[in-house]
Amino acid sequence: MTTPPLSGEQTRALNPPVLQGFSQLPLATPIHRATTFEFASAAEYAAVLSGTAEGYCYSRIDNPTADGFAAAVAALDAVGAPGEVRGQPFASGMAAISTTLLALTAAGAHVVAPREIYGGTFSLLARQLSRFGVTTTFADTTDPAAVAAAMTPATTVVWAEAIANPTLSVADVGALAAVAHAGGAQLVVDATFASPAVVRPLALGADVVLHSATKYLGGHSDATGGVVCARPELIAPIRLARVDLGGSLAPDEAYLLARGLQTLPLRVARHSETALALATALEGHPGLARVDYPGLASHRDHALATAIFAPGRYGGMLTVTPHGDRAEGMAFCDRLRLVRVATSLGGTHSLVSHVASTTHRQLTDAELAAAGIGPAACRISVGLEDAPDLLADITAALS
Ligand SMILES: Cc1ncc(COP(=O)(O)O)c(C=O)c1O
Repeated sequence: MTTPPLSGEQTRALNPPVLQGFSQLPLATPIHRATTFEFASAAEYAAVLSGTAEGYCYSRIDNPTADGFAAAVAALDAVGAPGEVRGQPFASGMAAISTTLLALTAAGAHVVAPREIYGGTFSLLARQLSRFGVTTTFADTTDPAAVAAAMTPATTVVWAEAIANPTLSVADVGALAAVAHAGGAQLVVDATFASPAVVRPLALGADVVLHSATKYLGGHSDATGGVVCARPELIAPIRLARVDLGGSLAPDEAYLLARGLQTLPLRVARHSETALALATALEGHPGLARVDYPGLASHRDHALATAIFAPGRYGGMLTVTPHGDRAEGMAFCDRLRLVRVATSLGGTHSLVSHVASTTHRQLTDAELAAAGIGPAACRISVGLEDAPDLLADITAALS
């Protein structure tokens, strides 16, 4: 059908000729910033909305730029996984986490989660989901037997973090999957600290892997997002929950995240190489009580990490514990010049957080000690700077 001649200036401004028919695909991800998509007919509109035809309708429901980013993450997480893997894009890591938990639980359900879980996920489970009849047992998920003991007939989800904050303990995904499945539950792994360039939990038996894309996937500290990857029948209810809850990824953020993702393996290889060089050089430094890094033979999970991580990659997170109390940990942070005092992780710049006053501020010194964390412990997200410059900065701050 042809459009009738347009007489009004404003009507013409709103209806320019549409460029179509070029067959060369853009190399960069196109940003589909539209909230709404036009259909060829009312019948097509009805079919897409009801799901009987493929297509885009409204960007809270699905958006091509956001879908492209999630598909790119799924392609990385799918390597070695049994069967097809699909990704769903989210507005943040917490949107991915809350939507996944709501999709996989109902009133009366029980979750087993790590004691060292990310604070946002802890708060969601302990303060929010508990109000809707979902209970959680926080267990030592580094011990699969403790997870098995914590499970009940109502357990629908076992939660793990691929690399935990700040001890950098490593989840034994295969063993946890066996325990979860024996009890009829799904294993969900938050792989934010690792990324698919370090470990791919779906290939090790996990049912769902999710990431705060704000960290390594985007990698430049300039975009917030999240991704969930799982087999099609499990991703479908998670997508439906996202549509209902509304935590959908915006196209501009998706563009930035997709651009960052292109260099994920290169960046993570470099983060890992530099973190290992720093950990090796700093271990035994007289100013430090301990150095935690899974790439060190002294780390409690070194053998497990070596078995399940990509060869030579132990990630970019490093925890150093100066001697002394909380004040000494904070003073060490303040003496750093190149390593910035800042929240978050996984970006180009090296960042430091004093654990006891930031991510674990709710814990007393005794509780920190029970979790194997010293009062002065500092978590460093090792960036892409040159290792000698970072080592010089850290050793100067220790002396
Ligand atoms: C392990 C982990 N999971 C999830 C999140 C939440 O991600 P976001 O801040 O993108 O919501 C974070 C954020 O720090 C995290 O460290």
